Amino acid sequence: MIENGYVEFFRQTSPYIHAHRGKTFVIALGGDAVLHGNFHSTVHDIALLQSLGIRVVLVHGARPQTEQRMALSGIKSEFSQGLRITDGDAIQCVKEAVGATRLQIESELSMGLPNSPMHGAGVRVIGGNFITAKPVGVRDGIDFQRTGEVRRIDGAAIDSQLQQGSLVLISPIGFSPTGEAFNLSYQDLASQVAVALKAEKLILMTEARGVLRDNSLVRALSLPELESLRDVSVHSAEQQMLASAHQACDRGVDRVHLVSCAEDGSLLSELFTRDGSGTLVMKDHSEVIRSATIDDVGGIIELIAPLEEQQVLVKRSRELLEAEISRFMLVVHPEGVLLGCAALYPTAADEVGELACVATHGEFHGQGIASRLFDAIVENAQQKGLKQLFVLTTQTAHWFLERGFVEAQVTDLPAQKQSLYNYQRNSRIFSKDI
Ligand SMILES: CC(C)(COP(=O)(O)OP(=O)(O)OC[C@H]1O[C@@H](n2cnc3c(N)ncnc32)[C@H](O)[C@@H]1OP(=O)(O)O)[C@@H](O)C(=O)NCCC(=O)NCCS
Repeated sequence: MIENGYVEFFRQTSPYIHAHRGKTFVIALGGDAVLHGNFHSTVHDIALLQSLGIRVVLVHGARPQTEQRMALSGIKSEFSQGLRITDGDAIQCVKEAVGATRLQIESELSMGLPNSPMHGAGVRVIGGNFITAKPVGVRDGIDFQRTGEVRRIDGAAIDSQLQQGSLVLISPIGFSPTGEAFNLSYQDLASQVAVALKAEKLILMTEARGVLRDNSLVRALSLPELESLRDVSVHSAEQQMLASAHQACDRGVDRVHLVSCAEDGSLLSELFTRDGSGTLVMKDHSEVIRSATIDDVGGIIELIAPLEEQQVLVKRSRELLEAEISRFMLVVHPEGVLLGCAALYPTAADEVGELACVATHGEFHGQGIASRLFDAIVENAQQKGLKQLFVLTTQTAHWFLERGFVEAQVTDLPAQKQSLYNYQRNSRIFSKDI
């Protein structure tokens, strides 16, 4: 007996699997995430992303590991403006902590025991001197010494490793042309790497679930909304995360996700479900209704082909769709997944238009997608000066009745449409004054 919930869930993820394949995701994993009990699952999920054809760059931090080493050596370091002042002793601890953390991540990614989630994963992890750093220097009279910031990123070198199918692991240390090592903020580094690679996503994983407002999770934020949450005078971990998210989003990374590293499965749920599990930051985060373009033809075919096979919709060839693409309106998820379509065929002489090819992706029924498309089509029809819509349907009569359509006859159709009416298909006809 096949467990239905599992099959359903797996099918629901398929649009996201298609949408993410071949895309570049930069994931920032803090040192606290590496120490967390959920670390194994996090790494296994990251390996799974790679297996699904996603180009993964993992940027790690090592702040708590550095703290531990400094405490053991009796070294105290000062913080200013949210940054550690890294002196000669501290950079030694940073190097050790970063090296050990990196090895820990690499070893976890190299696991492959039978009966474990990593069996057969075969992840190839690559690193290198991709990051050139410069000193932060003296700010407000404070010399930050070996605390650095990113000066240059060798994006071409990272890209060539990704093209060869490797997972690129980047540590928060950069080198200056003088050969010195500098301690970098891993979140800022990840953000800049995402910008340099023109990555589709930056994913910042921290212990928080995302952005909370009145103790509940904010699912999505636009750039101006994120801006309003920022307070540059505060140097908390949350503010640093928001600053990195802002920087990436502002400089061209379409989607920044703030995801929990403490909650099992949150990364997969964020990337492969409609609602996600964390906070998505986008310049504009809403699902869009827009006119279709020629690039959407493939997506529309994928959406309507099963309905054509079941004879719920009339078959349309690719050529016909290409010719009529301007008639179509779409609802598109922020991830680019096509959720629904509908078409309007005006017959201007009669001030009547045909509403056709209304379809919602099978995994997203009952979420108001077709209703929103219908409203958009009505608005569009009114703008075109149409006074009435009609629709031909074999199986969806009640959906239209519930939206104010009334049954009509073939003789009520515009003359041109009457001659094309397929009596064998025997569709019912409904019309609505608009
Ligand atoms: C009909 C269809 C477009 C609705 O899409 P949707 O995005 O799920 O629609 P909405 O979320 O806006 O509306 C959902 C409501 O419609 C109802 N509904 C869905 N299909 C229906 C049908 N065939 N008959 C009557 N009502 C239907 C749902 O039960 C739900 O009502 P509820 O909220 O009271 O339970 C979708 O089911 C579909 O793609 N069907 C196949 C294509 C088709 O028949 N197109 C019409 C011919 S052009």
